[in-house]
Amino acid sequence: GLPDRVTIYEVGPRDGLQNEKAIVPVEVKSEFVTRLAGAGLTTIETTSFVHPKWVPQLADAEELLGVLPRSGNLRYPVLVPNERGLDRALANGITEIAIFGSATETFARRNLNRTVDESLAMFAPVVERARAEGLWVRAYVSMVCGDPWEGDVPIEQVVSVASRMMELGCSQLSLGDTIGVGTPGHVTALIEALVAAGIGTDRLAVHFHDTYGQALANTLAALRAGVTVVDASAGGLGGCPYAESATGNLPTEDLVWMLDGLGVETGVDLAALAATSRWMAERLGRPSPSRVVQALSPT
Ligand code: HMG
Ligand code: MG
Repeated sequence: GLPDRVTIYEVGPRDGLQNEKAIVPVEVKSEFVTRLAGAGLTTIETTSFVHPKWVPQLADAEELLGVLPRSGNLRYPVLVPNERGLDRALANGITEIAIFGSATETFARRNLNRTVDESLAMFAPVVERARAEGLWVRAYVSMVCGDPWEGDVPIEQVVSVASRMMELGCSQLSLGDTIGVGTPGHVTALIEALVAAGIGTDRLAVHFHDTYGQALANTLAALRAGVTVVDASAGGLGGCPYAESATGNLPTEDLVWMLDGLGVETGVDLAALAATSRWMAERLGRPSPSRVVQALSPT
């Protein structure tokens, strides 16, 4: 079966823009987020409190959060790797954060300058303090299907890191196929293994990159397995600067087209969303890679 409703966790402003070569002006980012909210998205990952030298594209996090409209039904989670990041998030009135770990040692080193064990030690006080402050905490685990340096990643290895991250006290686990190599059978097996390890589908989200064109098929497999939170990036913006061959995320428009067709509610206005992505593509100077954005473009 399929869920009646899916929550789209929009990552375009963060996962999308972190990978743009150009530094997008803060006014453009702000208008982007505002338009995404106007199209009906209610959970929008806006930025990261990481080291500005590591991700210069998001060095304006404070400035952006200072100008974004806030409202009771809009959630703006941000990435936070360490206590310094948490301090910055708290100083900016953030109520939802995401820590981000890796299933593999190579990516943990490249993305966090830490081993897997060291990164968990870095996250532990972040989650503890965040929860004491009443924040909601998501845990990403990257490279859940494969890793560009290590190849296939065994399911047990993903379950082990994911379980350790959730035991810190996180509320949601997002499964990151960072380089888009996964296929639906593997996704189903991974979700079944996580459920067997005690992480139910009510706490799972999926985060697919579309490098090999599998993101939508993988999403459908995850929905059939019981997942109801899906990460997507407006217009298919994105990638990860510290993972070779990571391209854009699953485009939000492609996801909404499929869910509309399946009769699964999202609350998103597809026409308004596609218009937003066309507008953003003009600002970035290149067309959106989303097939749905292209198909809906006036000729
Ligand atoms: P490090 O160099 O090991 O940091 O980097 P450190 O702890 O040794 O600190 C060094 C200096 O950085 C200190 O300054 C700190 O204050 C400062 P100094 O005392 O030398 O003047 N510093 C900070 N400044 C501002 N904000 C901070 C911060 N932390 C330390 N938060 C660190 C470690 C984790 C900071 C670094 O590796 C980093 O910033 N990494 C971020 C990488 C990143 O953002 N990657 C992209 C997101 S992950 C992703 O895209 C995957 C995902 O989409 C899911 C999927 O697709 O799989 C989520
Ligand atoms: Mg990603």
